Amino acid sequence: MRELLGNEELPLFFEALERLPHHPNKSLRLNPRVPNARSLAESMGVRFFDPVSWYPDGYFFDRDSLERPQTNPLIGAGVVYIQEASAMEPVSMLDVQPGMQVLDLCAAPGGKSSQILDRLWNETSLSGHLVACEVNGLRVRKLDAMLARWGADAVSVVSPPIAASRESLPAVFDRVLVDAPCGSESFFSKRKDARNDLSDRETLRNQKIQTGLVHQGLDSLKPGGVMIYSTCTYSRQENEAVVEKVISERSDVELVMDQRRWPHRDGVPGGYWAKLAKKPSSLNQVGALTPQDWIAARSAKLFHRESDDYRDLMRNKSATPGGASMLELSDRDASLFLQRQWNSDVTERVAIYWRNLPLGFFRPKKGIRSYEFPSEI
Ligand SMILES: C[S@@+](CC[C@H](N)C(=O)[O-])C[C@H]1O[C@@H](n2cnc3c(N)ncnc32)[C@H](O)[C@@H]1O
Repeated sequence: MRELLGNEELPLFFEALERLPHHPNKSLRLNPRVPNARSLAESMGVRFFDPVSWYPDGYFFDRDSLERPQTNPLIGAGVVYIQEASAMEPVSMLDVQPGMQVLDLCAAPGGKSSQILDRLWNETSLSGHLVACEVNGLRVRKLDAMLARWGADAVSVVSPPIAASRESLPAVFDRVLVDAPCGSESFFSKRKDARNDLSDRETLRNQKIQTGLVHQGLDSLKPGGVMIYSTCTYSRQENEAVVEKVISERSDVELVMDQRRWPHRDGVPGGYWAKLAKKPSSLNQVGALTPQDWIAARSAKLFHRESDDYRDLMRNKSATPGGASMLELSDRDASLFLQRQWNSDVTERVAIYWRNLPLGFFRPKKGIRSYEFPSEI
């Protein structure tokens, strides 16, 4: 870090990093598919500050004004998603347009995947498709739950085995995001014990994994397509050096631009992103292959944990799938429902709503209460 910032700037960096978790500003995204999402959040006490200038649905808010996020119906009903403002930037730079085929190669827990889906949203419907790919079996559950809560259609959540080496992947995507596993130095403020730089061994390991992922991402990209590689770490070895290495190893890509964000310069935890373009003249020609062919080539399995009923409920806001009757809960009861502590004397399965938005199902089953909603909030 000293090499990157020099003796004078280094203390400012550490000071800003320590301060960030205590700063009154946090940031969130509003779900564009929820009508009046902002006024709904305000009615629940959320105090908004400025918009995030680089992302259309992003806002800073007073961190103390969103109570108990784990069981807040604003999050349970997919009205808002709490996300660092700097983490919103890579998708903003990816320039996703409705109708595109997009790959998110490191997708869990789903912050950026949900942003991509929002960019495929065209006022009334989603067009195009997202393949949200996550290798970690536990984290893929969080991803599936998050995207189900966000009410998003047009997405395949896939869980492939970790690729041992470069493989031949069909070039089918217009856009690819590689938000790579990294040293996570921008989280050091939350993990005080990790204040020293990462070991060389760890950094080199990350560099190797990231280089492989960036190659896979570029192989999956159509000629003329655009890829963003991003991290939440500052080390040059994990960022610029990865890009330089990949570009030196292939002739079909060019670096369009890259950007670093620093806590003391930009007021955000920060990290790095690079925008890479695959040359239109590349020999890697597209045939009639589709994202499904990519899924097959990667030996990935479709992951689908949340019930179809729940997905239908979230997508079609007024439907009551399976003929269940509807029950609207107060703010307090909705929060109790998300804590699995709400009770009722209903005798059949009911679809639970809060402020006209679906939350899940409740079913009294042989005297045992059963709650259906994505639990990994
Ligand atoms: C920085 S996180 C992604 C965050 C996510 N894009 C978001 O915005 O919510 C990196 C993800 O890459 C996954 N990962 C770890 N090793 C991997 C590998 N070798 N190949 C692909 N993904 C990997 C991790 O499990 C982790 O979920």
